[in-house]
Amino acid sequence: MSEWTKSSWQNYEALQQPKWPDMAEYQKVVDNISLLPPLVFAGEIRDLKRQLADAVEGKAFVLQAGDCSEDFANCTAPAIRETLKVILQMAVILSYAGGKPVIKIGRMAGQYAKPRSSDTEMVDGKEISSYRGDMVNSPEPTKEARIPDPQRMQKGYHLATATMNILRAFTRGGYAALHRVQEWNNDFVKKSPLGRSYERLARNIDQALNFMKVIGLDTDNPQLNQASFYTSHEALLLGYEQALTRQDSITGGWYDCSAHMLWIGDRTRQLDGAHVEFFRGVGNPIGMKVGPNHDIDIIKKIIEKLNPENEAGKLTLITRFGCKKIEDYLPSLIRDIKREGYKVVWSCDPMHGNTYTAEGGLKTRNFNDILQEIQCFFEIHWAEGSIPGGVHFELTGENVTECTGGGRNILDQHLQKNYQTHCDPRLNNEQSLELAFQIAEMIRT
Ligand code: PEP
Ligand code: CO
Repeated sequence: MSEWTKSSWQNYEALQQPKWPDMAEYQKVVDNISLLPPLVFAGEIRDLKRQLADAVEGKAFVLQAGDCSEDFANCTAPAIRETLKVILQMAVILSYAGGKPVIKIGRMAGQYAKPRSSDTEMVDGKEISSYRGDMVNSPEPTKEARIPDPQRMQKGYHLATATMNILRAFTRGGYAALHRVQEWNNDFVKKSPLGRSYERLARNIDQALNFMKVIGLDTDNPQLNQASFYTSHEALLLGYEQALTRQDSITGGWYDCSAHMLWIGDRTRQLDGAHVEFFRGVGNPIGMKVGPNHDIDIIKKIIEKLNPENEAGKLTLITRFGCKKIEDYLPSLIRDIKREGYKVVWSCDPMHGNTYTAEGGLKTRNFNDILQEIQCFFEIHWAEGSIPGGVHFELTGENVTECTGGGRNILDQHLQKNYQTHCDPRLNNEQSLELAFQIAEMIRT
C-alpha cells in the first residue's frame, strides 16, 4: 500500500463530490479552513474510542442520533437544545431502564453534506440538480439555487463551530446535570402516557440522587453534573475533512478534527475509493454503513484496510437493511465478521432501509418498521452469540410529522401538518422517547 498522507485520497476516485463550478474559489475556501482552529481535540477523540471499545464487549451502548441533514437556518440555540434534549432523555431512559452506560453521539455540528441516489430531480416538469446538503447547495427547487457554492463550505465550518460551542456550554455548564432530568421533558409530550412514564423515571432518578446526598455521598461531581457528548457526521466532502485534519502534538498521529467520529456512507465505501483511503490514515473512530447492496469479501477487505491492528473501538458497522431484508443479510454478515475475529461495534440504523413514499408524495418511514428492524437486530445478534452495541437514528426534538405511526398514530394524511425536513424523514420527540423505552427493555434482557 502506498504511503498515506492527508491528501493521498486525491489519487483515488471520490464518488458523490459536488461539481464545484469554480475550482479556484473552492481551493481558496479549503486553504482558508485549513488555517482555522479544529472543532475537537485528539484527546477527546481518543476518549470516545476507548468508550466505544466498551461497546464492542457489551459494557456500554451507543446512541448516535440527529438530523438527516442539518439545516443552516436551524442553527439556533433553541433548535440545538431541543435535539440535544431528546438525545439526553433517550440516554437516560437507556441507561436507567436498560442498566448500561450510554455513549451519546450527535449527528450534529457538521452533518451538512448528503450523498444522493440521483444527480438530478424533476420539479414541475423541469430537471434540476439534486440538493446535496446545506454545505453544497440550497434546497430551494430552482436551477440557480442548486449550483454548488464553495462559500457554503466556509459557512458550514462557522456554523459547525457555533453548534459545537453551544453543545459544550449545554453539556458542561449544568444544563445536562442529572438532577435536571425532569426539566428536559417537553410540554407537548408531558401530557401523553409516554410523558408520564418519563416523569416516573425522572422521579426515581431524583430520589436516588437525594438518597446519595442523605447518606453523605458527593453529588457535586462531574459524572452527575455534566454529560459527555460527542459529535459525528458523514464524512462526504473530503476537501473539508482534509482541511480539518491535524497532527496531534502529543502522539504525532493524524486526526480529523471536524468531529469526534466520522462515518463512511453506504454509497462511498468503495475498497479502492478515496473515502476509504482517507479514513485509513486518521485516528478517529470510524463508522461504516452497510446496506443490502454489499459484498462480504469486500467488506472484510475494507475492515482490514481501515483497522489493520484490529483495535477495539476503531470501527463501528452501522447496518441499515430495512425490516424486510435484515433477516436475509445480517446473520451471514455477523458470522463472517465473527469468524475473522474482527472487533467491531455493531450498530443498527433502522431508518435508511425503511423509507417509502406516502400517498401524498412525501417521503416517510413507519414507526413499526423502525421498531421491527431494531427488534430483529437484537434477536439476530443474540442468536449468533454476538453483541448488539448501539443504534443510529434520524430524529429531531421538534414535534414534526415526518414519520408515520407511534403513540399518536400519525397517518399518511397527517404528514403535511408539520413536515420540515429537506432530506429524510425524522422521528419526532415523542416517537424517539417511545423507541428508547422499547430499546431499554431489549438491552436489559
Ligand atoms: C445517512 O445516514 O443520512 C445516509 C445517507 O445513510 P446511508 O449512507 O446509509 O444511505
Ligand atoms: Co438520511
